[in-house]
Amino acid sequence: MAYSNNHQYKIDRETIERILDSAKIEEVVGDFVTLKRRGVNLIGLCPFHNEKTPSFTVSPAKNYCKCFGCGKGGNPVHFIMEHEQLSYYDALRWLAKKYHIEIKERELTDDEKREESMRESMFVVNQYALQHFCDTLHENEEGKAIGLNYFRHRGLRDETIKRFCLGYSLEKRDSFATKAVKAGYNPEIISKTGVCYTTDDGRLVDRFWGRVIFPVHTISGKVVAFGGRILHNNAKAAKYVNSPESEIYHKSDHLYGLYFAKQSIVQKDHCILVEGYLDVISMHQAGIQNVVASSGTSLTTGQIKLIHRFTNNITLLYDGDKAGIKASLRGIDMLLEEGMNINVVLLPEGEDPDSYSQSHSTEEVEQYIERNKVNFIRFKTNLLLDEVGDDPIRRATLVEDIVKSIAVVPNDILRSEYIKKCSEMLQVSEQLLVKGTAKIRMQHAEEQQKRSDNAAQQQSDSGNNTDEFKQNIINSYTSNPLHIKERGIIQFILKNGNKLLQVPEDKQNGTPSFTESVISHLHYSFEEDGIEFSNPLYNKIFKEAVEHANEQNFCPERYFMAHPEHEVSQLTAELCGEKYLLSKFFAGQNNDERNENAIMFEQTTRLAIAYKQSIVDDMLKQTMNRLKDPEVLANPAAMQEAMEDFKFLKETQRALNEVLKGYGFGNIAMNV
Ligand code: CTP
Ligand code: MN
Repeated sequence: MAYSNNHQYKIDRETIERILDSAKIEEVVGDFVTLKRRGVNLIGLCPFHNEKTPSFTVSPAKNYCKCFGCGKGGNPVHFIMEHEQLSYYDALRWLAKKYHIEIKERELTDDEKREESMRESMFVVNQYALQHFCDTLHENEEGKAIGLNYFRHRGLRDETIKRFCLGYSLEKRDSFATKAVKAGYNPEIISKTGVCYTTDDGRLVDRFWGRVIFPVHTISGKVVAFGGRILHNNAKAAKYVNSPESEIYHKSDHLYGLYFAKQSIVQKDHCILVEGYLDVISMHQAGIQNVVASSGTSLTTGQIKLIHRFTNNITLLYDGDKAGIKASLRGIDMLLEEGMNINVVLLPEGEDPDSYSQSHSTEEVEQYIERNKVNFIRFKTNLLLDEVGDDPIRRATLVEDIVKSIAVVPNDILRSEYIKKCSEMLQVSEQLLVKGTAKIRMQHAEEQQKRSDNAAQQQSDSGNNTDEFKQNIINSYTSNPLHIKERGIIQFILKNGNKLLQVPEDKQNGTPSFTESVISHLHYSFEEDGIEFSNPLYNKIFKEAVEHANEQNFCPERYFMAHPEHEVSQLTAELCGEKYLLSKFFAGQNNDERNENAIMFEQTTRLAIAYKQSIVDDMLKQTMNRLKDPEVLANPAAMQEAMEDFKFLKETQRALNEVLKGYGFGNIAMNV
């Protein structure tokens, strides 16, 4: 179940390369998708979105897959990351296990070792406790008579009980504690996990004695916590006892059932949120698997982020009594803010998802949800209207409240639809609602600005720019023309970087012809002009390529595909799987008589110069703007400077074209 053992950033390159060499895309995808041959490729239904005609294409030759519907794909690691929702390293581990490859770990620092071993020991204790609770439920007399019977009475089938790893903790106050200590587990670590606690007089006792056990799994399937339900209704004791917060368990970052639901959530692009452990389990048993529980509390930002990783569409499925949903209204406003699409379904009076799904067929439950779902804002308006009645002051407060909810919806069209609807329901003019939301949006924007100013300040203070780095990567995929050229160069390097090119003899300077690698040539050509890639990710790849350019057997594609940083390997897979960006650019140049080194020289040179030209173009545009700037116009010295820059750039532009002509390459099309 658990492929991860919590080691991060510690698989060495050699192992990554071995995993990538062994993992065959058609086998890895084939574990999850039925594939049919089509020409040199295989094709199947995309596992990442719903479709009826297959558009998920697997290329064994490129060891790459891609969905032409939703765009998802990559090499085997990226596929597993997406499909199993694992981190890069956990996906590598998953593949290592499938292909029986032993993973060599990098040596940890002492601090890392201490922290790792503490966290790891806690997971080991949890796993041991889970095994104990399950064994007790299925093998112990008391466990079977009380625990197993309880679950069966609640309508759970044995396979469901096994799937969710439900368990039982004996009445005896220290049965687990004693067993674990005897087995050699450290009492300090046992109590750190919260499965047991230490009494004032120093005894180690079980937290969950006499309760049935619901283990809470992380996204990757490790046990981080337990919930224990009491069996008889006893007003004095809490119905549920849960693991306390610990080094490994932060309640607000987990959702019960997500491990079991994630695949279905992704597939249906929809998540159903319920309140309790048993709601999740019974819905699953009824065949509806995209269900998670917030476990009684109102949603937290961490939980919302978790859901958002998998889908944008969420349906809250609540008891008919409306008490639950009132408690979580605030959390729901946060969902809106994240741009999520939220619907609410109330079950008939007296039912909860557990009871309803146990007494109805899958189709009936699905139909009920489909027919009764109400958009959240409309739901909230109705809910509050019921309470307010005709009291004008309370009505005004309500309008204010609804306006606040609408204001956080990021999508303009959606927002104006809500406004329309609410204006009808609240009998308030649309105009008033528009004004109200606009005002709140303005306030939010100001607050945001302040916050981001502060954050930027803090970032530059501490020199930490990872977020900026990520943002730049995102931007790079969009529009910046320089980035697009840089992307083309990186693709060229991945494909040809280690090839040799032949620099022709330079008669004027008396330099004879010589050969060097494409990467080195680009490196010197850019260094000469003080050029660095503007996109940080591309820049990083370029620099790293330069560093390794002279190594024997250096193969850029292979090297960057196995890169320990996921962003780099992902980009490599994308660029190597993508249609060759430059094929048009170089069209018609390859069918001549020259040797390959000479052709490489021409292609590299054209590429470098096209890039330099777009840098110059960019600078020219900026200089023109300076020449129009009133402040510059009013200042003769600044004006002079701008004019000189302009002249210089124009000359550079001409000079770049001359270089090409000098080699006999003629003028080039600028559109890479
Ligand atoms: N909960 C909790 N502690 C409590 C009560 C509730 O942690 N004292 C959480 C549990 O995660 C529970 C959820 O809130 O699953 C919903 O509570 P409730 O509806 O009372 O319990 P159910 O799970 O529905 O349990 P049951 O159907 O057995 O009553
Ligand atoms: Mn219940």
